Amino acid sequence: SSITRFPLIPVRGVPLMNHIANNWDSIWAFRPDPSDLLIATYPKAGTTWTQEIVDLLLHNGDAEACKRAPTPVRSPFLEIFSPPPIPSGLDLLEKMDPPRVIKTHLPFQLVPPGFWENKCKAIYVARNAKDNLVSYYYFDLMNQTQPEPGPFDGYIHKFMQGDLSWGSWYDHVKGYWLEREKRNILYLFYEDMKENPRREVERIMRYLDLSVSDEVISQIVELTSFKNMKENPMANYSCVPSPVFDQSISPFMRKGEVGDWKNHFTPEQSKLFDEDYEKQMKDIDIPFRTLI
Ligand code: PPS
Repeated sequence: SSITRFPLIPVRGVPLMNHIANNWDSIWAFRPDPSDLLIATYPKAGTTWTQEIVDLLLHNGDAEACKRAPTPVRSPFLEIFSPPPIPSGLDLLEKMDPPRVIKTHLPFQLVPPGFWENKCKAIYVARNAKDNLVSYYYFDLMNQTQPEPGPFDGYIHKFMQGDLSWGSWYDHVKGYWLEREKRNILYLFYEDMKENPRREVERIMRYLDLSVSDEVISQIVELTSFKNMKENPMANYSCVPSPVFDQSISPFMRKGEVGDWKNHFTPEQSKLFDEDYEKQMKDIDIPFRTLI
């Protein structure tokens, strides 16, 4: 079957995939259980990694238990309405008993209000803007349901303008940052996870009020290394058939590194981006530790 790269449709000013926009009312009406956990990210910020860590923590590091199904079945993607035969996030969630681990890329203001009314826990992961952009660029090349990324230079401008699926990176990281205390959101950084995965796994464990042994933590760190997840068919998105994801163009588990933007941005592009970044981020102090 052939796949169409539909244009994005704005929902309250945020460009979303047409399947999402067309089903918006049912997404907004979703009622989670208070025991459900939300994992929220701008696309390509470390979602799948965090989903795997959480699943392993909930299963006391049991690798086999966490190979029971692919990531999006174990931990459904709230707003996705993919082309058939892939079930929608809402369909999967309806068939699952709470507590569920729910993925979303929605910016804070578009998260169904039931999550906050029910005081659900939520983990947010942010990744430095330039690496996030590069990862998203490769993803848009291979994901045949997203708009064509076009040339890299133009993609940088789209990113700065928020003209990508799920909208502006700047609004996204800021929206959750400003709500993190009021909503008890655990706000993590991809770069921290790379620097010291053990520390971040322990942080997630404490947030979820779980207690696993040091040995199990070590095991979880090992099982969620980039290399191991890349080889894990239940984590590497080989479940999404070509031509939806054409991983011959770029693998879902692409590089998993900090600073890959340096291999993609020219000095001129980097300067332009940094100037714009300062403007867009001037009113907020989010402790991104590395680069931009
Ligand atoms: S998605 O489609 O939004 O759910 O993608 P997401 O999982 O957020 O992001 C994919 C990027 O995360 C990298 N990744 C990892 N990095 C380090 N360690 C582990 N275990 C890991 N798992 C996934 C993945 O390689 C993508 O980043 P890039 O830079 O493109 O490699």
